[in-house]
Amino acid sequence: MSKVSCGIDFGTTNSAVSIAKHSSTPEVVPLEGNNLTIPTAIFFEEDTNNVFYGSNALKNYIDGSRGRFMRSMKRILGSNLMNVGTKINNKSVKFDFVLSKFLKNIKEKSDQYAKENIENVVLGRPVHFRDNDPQGDAQAQEELKNIAKSVGYKNIEFQYEPIAAAFAHETKILGEELACVVDIGGGTSDISIIKLGQKLQNKTNRTDDILANTGVRIGGNDFDKNLSLKSFMPHFGIGTTYGSKNLPVPSYLFSGLSEWSNINNEYNYKNLNMVNSILQQSNSKELYGRLYELLEKETAHTLLNMVEITKMELTDKEDTVVLLKFMDNPFSVISNRKDFEDSIHQNVNKICLSVKECISMAKIKKEDIDLLILTGGSTEIPYIQKHIKSYFSNAKLSQENKLASVGLGLAFDAKRKFL
Ligand SMILES: Nc1ncnc2c1ncn2[C@@H]1O[C@H](COP(=O)(O)OP(=O)(O)OP(=O)(O)O)[C@@H](O)[C@H]1O
Ligand SMILES: [Mg+2]
Repeated sequence: MSKVSCGIDFGTTNSAVSIAKHSSTPEVVPLEGNNLTIPTAIFFEEDTNNVFYGSNALKNYIDGSRGRFMRSMKRILGSNLMNVGTKINNKSVKFDFVLSKFLKNIKEKSDQYAKENIENVVLGRPVHFRDNDPQGDAQAQEELKNIAKSVGYKNIEFQYEPIAAAFAHETKILGEELACVVDIGGGTSDISIIKLGQKLQNKTNRTDDILANTGVRIGGNDFDKNLSLKSFMPHFGIGTTYGSKNLPVPSYLFSGLSEWSNINNEYNYKNLNMVNSILQQSNSKELYGRLYELLEKETAHTLLNMVEITKMELTDKEDTVVLLKFMDNPFSVISNRKDFEDSIHQNVNKICLSVKECISMAKIKKEDIDLLILTGGSTEIPYIQKHIKSYFSNAKLSQENKLASVGLGLAFDAKRKFL
């Protein structure tokens, strides 16, 4: 039996891994220098066939190296795209190949850190990979399991991400508390209601302590898309017209280029030809011409990266200006918090409904919650904080270690399950 087990939080935006040994408390593995998380991003360089991971992948792409950049690959699990695959530097590959490469990189780093070939893993999973699609959901987990097997894990278990986050926070609890975990990451919002306590930590089976889990496939990626369509795409011709009949330009491309996991699919001759022919008759040639440039130069990831940075700046500031230097004719985009909040309003409502559904599934009242655990990067957004905190106005708040708590909690679970 292996002496070390691990927990992997394969996140839509960031991934983390923690290891558990018999005799010590689980610890998070530094994956990039001292950083405890790595961006879930990969870059296949065209000229050299080199593969870069995490921040290095982002850097190579942003610096303009030729090749294929991918982010938010988790969102593809359970979808038809898994079978269709994609072209990487003129070679057709399936997405499980891409995901295996990324996971293998994480395995190598954690094995090196633990000085052992780790074979036991608890993988985090959202409560729903896909909404209202039990078959796609089961398929997503199976795909992730096969990918984990292919990189060398032998014993593979799964745990809901919000439950894992609760385990990480449980170490600080003295008595017994009823907690609601709200984990809003890049791809999904996941909610759990669970009994936590010092005496409960060593129980091998925690099923009785988990009262309810709910989730929706909404996260920071969707907020990026909302902000892109609201404040950025108007500068690229969304809502403009073409021809003497003032026909509206098709809107699907703007959506497609604002969705992290979909951008690469839009880079094709069909779209380029269509945009080119509309451009000839466009009534707003300067704006619509920028869309043509995004497709031709394949710079939509760079744009969406700037949208995401703007979104994060709006967490601390009321308004912000960003200069889009990568465009042939650089220009500035002004955004403000009010517009951002308007753009995410409907998605935040859906997340709040999922929180209410969790309370009702647990057959409790919201006032029964002693502790609110906020985790996942998107819970930084003030508009979201305001809504969730005011809903649980009686509860204490715990929100440390937002990016690594799921990974750490998975290692607590791995210890329980394997050691
Ligand atoms: N200060 C901030 N303000 C707003 N959003 C933020 C902030 N910091 C991070 N985010 C967003 O949080 C998301 C990443 O959070 P996190 O790392 O928890 O997600 P993940 O675990 O990769 O995703 P998931 O759990 O959904 O698979 C991104 O969409 C990022 O833009
Ligand atoms: Mg997460």
